[in-house]
Amino acid sequence: MGNLSFVLPALGFLLLCCAVSAKQPSTNVKYKDPKQPLRTRVKDLMSRMTLEEKIGQMVQIDLSVAKPEVMTKYLIGSVLSGGGSVPAQKASPETWVNAVNDIQKAALSTRLGIPMIYGIDAVHGHNNVYNATIFPHNVGLGVTRDPKLVRRIGEATALEVRATGIQYAFAPCIAVCRDPRWGRCYESYSEDHRIVQQMTEIITGLQGDLPAKQKGIPFVDGKRKVAACAKHFVGDGGTVRGINENNTVIDKKGLFNIHMAAYHDAVDKGVATVMISYSSLNGVKMHANKKLVTGFLKNKLKFKGFVISDWQGIDKITYPPHSNYSYSVFASVTAGIDMIMVPYNYTEFIDEITSQVKRKIIPMRRINDAVERILRVKFTMGLFEHPMGDHSLANHLGSKEHRELAREAVRKSLVLLKNGENADSPILPLPKKAKKLLVAGTHADNLGNQCGGWTITWQGLNTTDLTIGTTILTAVKNTVDPTTQVVHIENPDREFVESNGFDYAIVVVGEPPYAEGNGDSTNLTIPEPGPSTITNVCGSVKCVVVIVSGRPVITQPYISGIDALVAAWLPGTEGQGVADVLFGDYGFTGKLARTWFKTVDQLPMNFGDPNYDPLFPFGFGLTTEGKRQYMSK
Ligand code: GLC
Repeated sequence: MGNLSFVLPALGFLLLCCAVSAKQPSTNVKYKDPKQPLRTRVKDLMSRMTLEEKIGQMVQIDLSVAKPEVMTKYLIGSVLSGGGSVPAQKASPETWVNAVNDIQKAALSTRLGIPMIYGIDAVHGHNNVYNATIFPHNVGLGVTRDPKLVRRIGEATALEVRATGIQYAFAPCIAVCRDPRWGRCYESYSEDHRIVQQMTEIITGLQGDLPAKQKGIPFVDGKRKVAACAKHFVGDGGTVRGINENNTVIDKKGLFNIHMAAYHDAVDKGVATVMISYSSLNGVKMHANKKLVTGFLKNKLKFKGFVISDWQGIDKITYPPHSNYSYSVFASVTAGIDMIMVPYNYTEFIDEITSQVKRKIIPMRRINDAVERILRVKFTMGLFEHPMGDHSLANHLGSKEHRELAREAVRKSLVLLKNGENADSPILPLPKKAKKLLVAGTHADNLGNQCGGWTITWQGLNTTDLTIGTTILTAVKNTVDPTTQVVHIENPDREFVESNGFDYAIVVVGEPPYAEGNGDSTNLTIPEPGPSTITNVCGSVKCVVVIVSGRPVITQPYISGIDALVAAWLPGTEGQGVADVLFGDYGFTGKLARTWFKTVDQLPMNFGDPNYDPLFPFGFGLTTEGKRQYMSK
């Protein structure tokens, strides 16, 4: 027997190699080979997965609970940042990338090394993130009727999302808001489904151009693009009296002609994911609606990406929410939902779905369909090849180029509703050179009001230091002649206005920021002191009123006292776009994408309805000549 001292270490090394190989497949397996056909990679990986690994892929949890040990123990396939869920206040792109990468490293350390996908509500730019470019909300973008512009916004947004290491945006909302009393109406491009269909072009901006003959297959073109999410399927904008998450009562023709139309376009454009609406359709909760989720979206429209629930959406299948979680899990998963935005009680969800699969209540073929769809998206977006966030894109966040694009979008989103008593005596464009001008109103120097909800926090903030941008007041000061004195006072009384000899005034008022149900309204009025400011100022000096709101609001009582009226919607960080048009560098071109009603008791009232009697009809918008023209892009 020779010297056996080398045997033990060699044996130990051999055992170690076996242990590691048992833990992670060697790199020559098919699912890890990007040269393999997609179908082969999915099939190979599926064949290796345990039930726990499959169920883990169906679970999305919030950043706040996504600790590495949770990712590895429960094999979690997806993480999100809910509104305001950030790694740190005013976190830099570097902090974001590091936070996302720490979670990804945990996901990759599991046996099969399946990368996680990280989602966030980038719904008007990368709006959760400090210093991101905040674009006008969809209510303003619909006014532009410019799909190319919206596609460019998608491209810019994708870059800013990737600059933070995130690969998935819960956008676009393709709701067709039919009643402005809905708190989410500003997330809808229009009351007209045809405009919403046009604006699905943003999907191509976010995800990239669909390769020929790949119509309907989810596609995300590499590391500078993100997976998109058409939401909320379906009929979220048609609820009774615009009550958020309520019931949409509609016949088949109305459903498919109005609310379903843009989903055809989204699927054709290869949208990677579809999010289900909290609302009900003719009394059936959409999160439990197998007929439409599986029967129509998957089987009829041939949608090949994955379907995701809304935030605690399955809990709300029952009332009170979460009162029968077993049924919630059964009804949502068997309806065809593939990924569940839990987002906190992941052990409860995992235990429940595992139990129902093992007891054959939920069939294994449903789990396999869900996981195949999720893997298909992760493979096609290159997540297996490029799972880690990239620090090199940080300079795109809030870049000058993107802010200029947002400024162009602001210009094109403005609607001129009144311009003097008649065409012969227009007020706008305003002269840049004047002795003294007054800028008043709660929204003149308030970036938070200008951006609205879904900005830095879920509900938005009524402050100015929430992020970096240009208020409308700053924009006015940037634009007027240096000899023009600009006086700013938020809510001046009549005496102040009369005693100061102003040449003219700009009054910027509107709605406070809100999101979802918090924005539901039964009166649609501009809260005080807005109306008082309008009365005090416009009763004493020539005035232009700029309304910053998520929707048409009550204006008829003031219209006769106003010399010029502009709808600015929720313009975002680039207030310079408002001044560009007020002072004539560019002309007004926007056309209403929503009916501007006279009184709330007319609602719901949409273009084409009988007894259509608006203050300003759908498609209305006065124009002015601008000194500069747009270069067509
Ligand atoms: C919210 C919204 C949805 C959003 C999701 C994640 O409740 O309904 O639009 O994408 O939760 O924040």
